[in-house]
Amino acid sequence: MNDILKIGVIGNGSISGVHLRAYKLNPHAEIYALCDINKERCDRRGDEYGVPADRRFTDVNDMLKACPELDAVSVCTWNAAHAACAIAALNAGKHVLCEKPMCMTVEEAESGPGSHSLSSANSERRRK
Ligand SMILES: NC(=O)c1ccc[n+]([C@@H]2O[C@H](COP(=O)([O-])OP(=O)(O)OC[C@H]3O[C@@H](n4cnc5c(N)ncnc54)[C@H](O)[C@@H]3O)[C@@H](O)[C@H]2O)c1
Repeated sequence: MNDILKIGVIGNGSISGVHLRAYKLNPHAEIYALCDINKERCDRRGDEYGVPADRRFTDVNDMLKACPELDAVSVCTWNAAHAACAIAALNAGKHVLCEKPMCMTVEEAESGPGSHSLSSANSERRRK
């Protein structure tokens, strides 16, 4: 992994501003790609944070496919989309910072990939 982490932010509404501002201030982070099902919101954040048009997406899987160099993502979507977006990113080998709640059901919590399942990720965090 490089000194500067390439970050993707999924969901570009209100709370994403908190994540984006923090990444912008961090010399070890680069806001590399954005994704929102609402293209206008994605473009607004893209213009605000200087993310090039070819790294703005309306589908999380398109973003993960087009940007294998991403190191980590923030999941800032509506609650119902947290698990799907987080699991897609984990399956693509990314670190994930997910807004609360991490998912909507126990089944979703247990459906993550292997040792990176959402439930085990949460348990590991609690132990620390
Ligand atoms: N940590 C906190 O203190 C805090 C505070 C407020 C909100 N939140 C959480 O943050 C999340 C977002 O809240 P918000 O207020 O920013 O909502 P918002 O409606 O302003 O933004 C959510 C964005 O996610 C997008 N989106 C929805 N499904 C998507 C998908 N599948 N792929 C890509 N984009 C998708 C929507 O188009 C929207 O632009 C919620 O889960 C909420 O619980 C946390």
